[in-house]
Amino acid sequence: MEKEIKRRKFRTGIPGFDELFREGIPEGNAILVEGGPGSGKTVFCLHVAINACKRGKKVLYMSFEEPKDRLKSHINAFGWDSEKYEKKGLLMIKRFNALDVARSVEALLSEAKRELLIDIQPVLIPRGFEPDIVCLDSLSSISSAFSGEEARFRIYMEQLFRHLENTNTTSFLIRETPNPAHIGAIVSEKGEAVSFLSDGIIVLYNIIYSTGNRGRAIEILKMRGEDIDRRIVEVRIVNKKGFVVTPNRQLKGEYKLS
Ligand SMILES: Nc1ncnc2c1ncn2[C@@H]1O[C@H](COP(=O)(O)OP(=O)(O)O)[C@@H](O)[C@H]1O
Ligand SMILES: [Mg+2]
Repeated sequence: MEKEIKRRKFRTGIPGFDELFREGIPEGNAILVEGGPGSGKTVFCLHVAINACKRGKKVLYMSFEEPKDRLKSHINAFGWDSEKYEKKGLLMIKRFNALDVARSVEALLSEAKRELLIDIQPVLIPRGFEPDIVCLDSLSSISSAFSGEEARFRIYMEQLFRHLENTNTTSFLIRETPNPAHIGAIVSEKGEAVSFLSDGIIVLYNIIYSTGNRGRAIEILKMRGEDIDRRIVEVRIVNKKGFVVTPNRQLKGEYKLS
């Protein structure tokens, strides 16, 4: 049964984006941020993270892909000061090795034998830092590290989502999709498990117009507990600014989403 308590709403502070919601993202929701390579998933999450820090929220950015220094230089290129928020104890960027995580989960599961409830907290969230927001970049890298062990990946995901729910953490979990899965309704098995667990899905698209020009777009595909505009709208990634959504600009002309 859906919770009756009215939950507080989280606003991303990304120009134009919050206008696609009636109020915002319900706090504590687990949101998938999906899209193809280069569609802007990392930049989107970094922008959400920095805006949250500006409002005094604690953010943990977990990177299974890019090293911390590269992420920091992205942040700085957008004109934001990562060091300032790190010093204030509001931002923690932590690099993880997906294979190490997979191995630790395997070890925990074999120790627990038939007990499916493992404590993933030590494997995942650093102790002593209780974030309001978690960004995880990306589920796809973790899932590749578990390749051939779908059941384990599933258990791990269930534990992760449960942990985020119990701690009322709002989370942005990146998933790279090779092509726009939703359009052709092609959803892989692994993906299905994750989509089912999530409360919301934000999709980023690479666009190619028939003119040969490229563009970007964003869509909120699903958001439990909130009214949303279901439109694919234009996005730009701007140096010194970050993510800029134009909520009233729908895509024009002939184009393909990828
Ligand atoms: N400082 C910047 N100014 C303008 N565009 C940028 C900047 N940094 C990154 N980009 C653009 O953002 C794109 C998306 O990057 P990213 O978020 O890393 O993609 P993804 O994580 O989806 O693979 C890059 O390909 C680049 O074109
Ligand atoms: Mg990325």
